[in-house]
Amino acid sequence: MECIPRLGLGLSVDVYSPDLFELMDRFLSQKRRPAYLEIFRATATALQPVRLHFPAIPLAYHGEGLWITQPDFTAHAFVEKELDDVASQLAILKSPWLNHECATKQMAGYSFGTYLPPLYTAESARVVADNITSVQERMDRGSRSGEAFGPLFLLEMPPLTYFMAGTMSVPQYFRLVTDLVPCGLVLDIGHLWTVYRYTAARRQSSLEQFVRQFLDEFPMERVIEVHVAGLAQHEAAVPRRSPDADLEWIDAHAAPIQSVSWTMLEQVLDHPRLVNLRGVALEVDTKPIDCILEEFHEASLRFAPMIRRRLANGSTSIDSVPKRAEPCPEELVSEVHRQRLQADYARYAQIVSGQRSATGPEWQEVAGDPAGLDRYIHDYMPHEILYWGGAITEMFPETCRVISEQGVSLEEFVPWWFQIARPVERPYDFFLLKIDRMLEFVAERAPAVFKQAEREADSLRTAYADANDVARPIMEPTR
Ligand SMILES: [Fe+2]
Repeated sequence: MECIPRLGLGLSVDVYSPDLFELMDRFLSQKRRPAYLEIFRATATALQPVRLHFPAIPLAYHGEGLWITQPDFTAHAFVEKELDDVASQLAILKSPWLNHECATKQMAGYSFGTYLPPLYTAESARVVADNITSVQERMDRGSRSGEAFGPLFLLEMPPLTYFMAGTMSVPQYFRLVTDLVPCGLVLDIGHLWTVYRYTAARRQSSLEQFVRQFLDEFPMERVIEVHVAGLAQHEAAVPRRSPDADLEWIDAHAAPIQSVSWTMLEQVLDHPRLVNLRGVALEVDTKPIDCILEEFHEASLRFAPMIRRRLANGSTSIDSVPKRAEPCPEELVSEVHRQRLQADYARYAQIVSGQRSATGPEWQEVAGDPAGLDRYIHDYMPHEILYWGGAITEMFPETCRVISEQGVSLEEFVPWWFQIARPVERPYDFFLLKIDRMLEFVAERAPAVFKQAEREADSLRTAYADANDVARPIMEPTR
C-alpha cells in the first residue's frame, strides 16, 4: 500500500465505450482533468496504445472474470492462464492495483450476464480471502524486477440487484475478509445505496443513519479507492404502483450520478478512518462524453479540495490497520468447506433463476420480502439472457424467424438456459456463451433449423474474433 501513489480525482473507464482517446481529447481543452484513469480489462493490443498515448497519466486496472467468490475458482484449468493475462495487463498499464468486484457472473456451472453478489456468510468470506491470497501471490511472483510486491489486490464491494442473501451484514463480511487477507478495498457509493435499498435497512433507518452506521462497521482503513457512478431504473423493470417505486434504482454506469450519491460521498470522505485513500474515480463507461465532462467538472469543484486534504492527511504507514493473530484452524479453508459452499452456490443459482424456492438460513430475509427476488427472476434475468451483451434476435435473425414460424418461442430459451449446470471449460465470455447455448437450444427444440443456426453462429464467431484482434472490438462492454 505504501507503494501506491496518492492520485486524487480520476475516472474509471472502458477503452471502447466511449472511445477513450476521444474522451481524453475533449479533456485537453478543459482546466480540470482526471488525475488518473482506472481502465477496465481489455486486450493487451487495446491497452498498449493507451499507455503510450498518455505517458503522464497514472493508469490503474479494473479486473474482470476472476470469480474469487467461487469455491471452485482455483480448480479451473484455465485460471493460471487468466492470471498470466491479468499480470501482463497490469504490467502494460504499470498499475499500482488490481481492482476486482467481490462478485461473480458464473456459479456452480450456471452462467449470468451481470454480477451476482456473494453469499454473505462467514464460510464464503473465508473462501474469498483464501482465493485473494492465491491471486496476490501470483501477482507478487510476476512483479517487475527490483520490486518485492506486485500490484495490490483491491476487493470492491459489489452492487445488489434487487436482493441480498446471507447471514451476516455487508460490513461484517468485509471485516472478516480483511482480517484474513491483507488486501485493499474499493468502496462504491452507488453500490452502497443499493445495500440500503435492497435490505431491511431502508425500513429501519434513514439513508444518512444507515451510511453512518455502515461506515463505522466497515474496514474503512483498508479503503484505497472510492467509486461514484450512476443509478437508474432498469429498462426491463416496469415501475410498481407503490410509494417507493421511483427508488427502484440499480447500479447504472451510463446513467447520471444522482444527487444522493454526492451527499453520500461527502459522508464517506468525512469518515475519520478513511486514512489510506489513494483515489476517487467517477465510473463513466458507456456514458455520453458531454455528460462525463459535466459531472467531472461538478465533482472537481465540489470535492477536489476535500479529496486533496484527505490524501495529504492520510496515514503514511499501515499502523492504522489493526493487527491480528494468525488465523485459527477453523478459519483455514479446507476442501470440505469449498464443497459445502459449492452446494450453497448451486442452490443460489437455482433460486435466482427461479428453479427452486428461496429456503435456507441465507435466504430468510429474501423469503420474508420476496419482491426484489421476483423482480430479478421475472424482469431482470430474462432481459439479460435475451438482450444484454447481444440481443438473440439480432445475433440469429434468420434462425429466430424460422423457429418462431415453427411455434418455438424465444421465451422458452430463458428457463432452458438454467435447466442444468454445465461444466465451465474456458474463461467467461457472455457473448460466446450465448452463441453456444443458442445452438444447443435449436438442436434440441428445432433440429431442422440447426444448419441455419450454425451458419449464423460461425459468422458471429468470426466477426467477434476479428474485432477482438484489432484495437476496436464491436462488442458491448461487459460490466
Ligand atoms: Fe465500482
